[in-house]
Amino acid sequence: MLNIKDLHATLADGTEILKGLNLSVGKGEIHAIMGPNGAGKSTLSKVIAGHPSYRVTKGSVVFHGKNLLSLSVAERANLGFFIGFQYPLEIPGLGNEEFLRATIDAKHKALNLPKMNESEFSEKMKKTMQLLEMDSRYKERGLNEGFSGGEKKRNEILQMAMLEPSLAFLDETDSGLDIDALRIVANGINKLMNAERSVVLITHYQRLLDYAKPQFVHVIIDGKIAKSGGAGLALELEEKGYEL
Ligand SMILES: Nc1ncnc2c1ncn2[C@@H]1O[C@H](COP(=O)(O)OP(=O)(O)OP(=O)(O)O)[C@@H](O)[C@H]1O
Ligand SMILES: [Mg+2]
Repeated sequence: MLNIKDLHATLADGTEILKGLNLSVGKGEIHAIMGPNGAGKSTLSKVIAGHPSYRVTKGSVVFHGKNLLSLSVAERANLGFFIGFQYPLEIPGLGNEEFLRATIDAKHKALNLPKMNESEFSEKMKKTMQLLEMDSRYKERGLNEGFSGGEKKRNEILQMAMLEPSLAFLDETDSGLDIDALRIVANGINKLMNAERSVVLITHYQRLLDYAKPQFVHVIIDGKIAKSGGAGLALELEEKGYEL
């Protein structure tokens, strides 16, 4: 589904952040990416999403057989890529539900699918919010406006669940979540998984991985994957640290 080869990316000033990164994600897989602060984990997800702060200087990213790097941000999203941000933005004045309605409409239009009717949308929104144990009042509030840290993270999962991407990079979705919210969010992730969908969990801690179990764990150090392994690698790292 996703094939990243020898990916190099720099900031506008030429500073190289990603230094030859290789990663393959197949259908129906859960991957975890760990690694020290500043290693390039968020940069990787933003480069794949098409964030304008980064320039790809070398390498390739193929997603569903297409050259992802030649596509606009919107085209990448419409092709099925989703990013759950480490620091979700607040957009006051843009209603949470209004935003999701517009996003889904835009996606359906781009893919030549019929517009989702009002009752189908409302029902899906209601069910998803129940799954994530979110109060319906969050529909009316501005996008992430005044949301607590954990509420913002939960709202990222709401967006993911509504958009049903084939590949989601969730950047530290677990940080800031309370014990119950962690379980609820992981449950939301698991419910969305199927043979066609994949998720990459960027995390610093094992605890999310207890609930959403990865088949593959990778460690990014200094802009490239320094080690990959099975689920046991996360436990080993927690015990021994990145010196390992
Ligand atoms: N837009 C930017 N402007 C300046 N520096 C940047 C920018 N984006 C990333 N960097 C730098 O690139 C490096 C990698 O950052 P990145 O956010 O990808 O790290 P990370 O692995 O996600 O770390 P953390 O675990 O703390 O979230 C850091 O040194 C960061 O300061
Ligand atoms: Mg980060």
